[in-house]
Amino acid sequence: MKIVSVVGARPQFVKLAPIAKEAAAASVDHVIVHTGQHYDPMLSDVFFDDLGIAAPDVHLGVGSGSHGVQTGAMLAALDAVFDAQQPDWVLVYGDTNSTVAAALSAVKMHLPVAHLEAGLRSFNRRMPEEHNRVLTDHAADLLLAPTQVAVDHLAAEGLAARTVLVGDVMTDVLHVVRDEVAGRPSPLVAELGVEPRSHYVATIHRAENTDDPARLAEVVAALAGLDKPVVLLAHPRVVAKAAAHGIPLTQGSLIAHAPLAYPDLVAATLASAGVVTDSGGLQKEAFLLRVPCTTVRTETEWVETVDLGWNVLAGTAEEIAAGVTRPRPADTDATPYGDGKAAGRVIETLAERRTS
Ligand code: UD1
Repeated sequence: MKIVSVVGARPQFVKLAPIAKEAAAASVDHVIVHTGQHYDPMLSDVFFDDLGIAAPDVHLGVGSGSHGVQTGAMLAALDAVFDAQQPDWVLVYGDTNSTVAAALSAVKMHLPVAHLEAGLRSFNRRMPEEHNRVLTDHAADLLLAPTQVAVDHLAAEGLAARTVLVGDVMTDVLHVVRDEVAGRPSPLVAELGVEPRSHYVATIHRAENTDDPARLAEVVAALAGLDKPVVLLAHPRVVAKAAAHGIPLTQGSLIAHAPLAYPDLVAATLASAGVVTDSGGLQKEAFLLRVPCTTVRTETEWVETVDLGWNVLAGTAEEIAAGVTRPRPADTDATPYGDGKAAGRVIETLAERRTS
């Protein structure tokens, strides 16, 4: 069996790691295509190095641009790659512009497409990720869903016959990395010179929070006013927008810091008093590490984290402050994101459902 994985943005490299490992264990011919959507070493290369992923076989070098320019450049470049590779499956990950470009290119070339992390919905039609998810799910031949809620969304859209519940591959990688960093001091905590559990880890990068200067100023002021140091692991997008609008990212309790490599992020989160984020992946990682999370959004795709009390949605400064200072949630042994063996199930499902 030959699989072409198409990835391009930071969270996709994390999801790729367990798939690449299981593909190798099953002697699958696995070709990795990197679109180049993320190109800064801290958003790309470090994930390949730290998570033991082989260097991409093909790198499209597309880079940044408006949605249409970026997605279009990927589409134009992928036709030739797929034509040369002729895989049994094109595997696409998550909800970025790289995901929708690869799905669209492959489906038009009559190549079977599998979507990993299918069925997530925010039902917020202003989010670029929501367009990417819906379009990718409806184009793909096989929908690999991480949760029962995702399975239900796909069924509601008439896609049940193409859906398989495999679990969440981010759980696979998180468990491995958590065990690797356990017992070691967090490099970030050492660098800051703070006591464990006396800082918050923050990430803000979504267009809804960064692109409108008034909204970005509101979020930054909310973080700066919190009761403990807040380490903002600043994505280049938030750095660029803050600089353009003259909003300092280090002020009050807020300390701007470069993004962290994945093991350092896991260690910093484990050692923290809580997470404040608009990232999907980090909400779930916080839950899996049993660190309380406050999500700076009006909705979340990972509703299980909210239902179990480990995540709250917050918009205003008051809501964010109330979120981070709320009492620790009740312990739970619920496993809505699977057993840490999802990637093996993905490879088995691809082998079973192979049509060529
Ligand atoms: C993308 C995904 C988002 C995902 C996020 C993870 C889309 C629509 N969005 O958002 O779903 O949660 O990745 O991080 O696909 N930039 C750099 N260096 C880089 C990459 C980007 O400086 O290596 C800057 C550029 O100014 C660029 C901006 O960040 O214009 C935004 O990058 P882009 O890839 O368009 O979206 P993200 O915000 O990273």
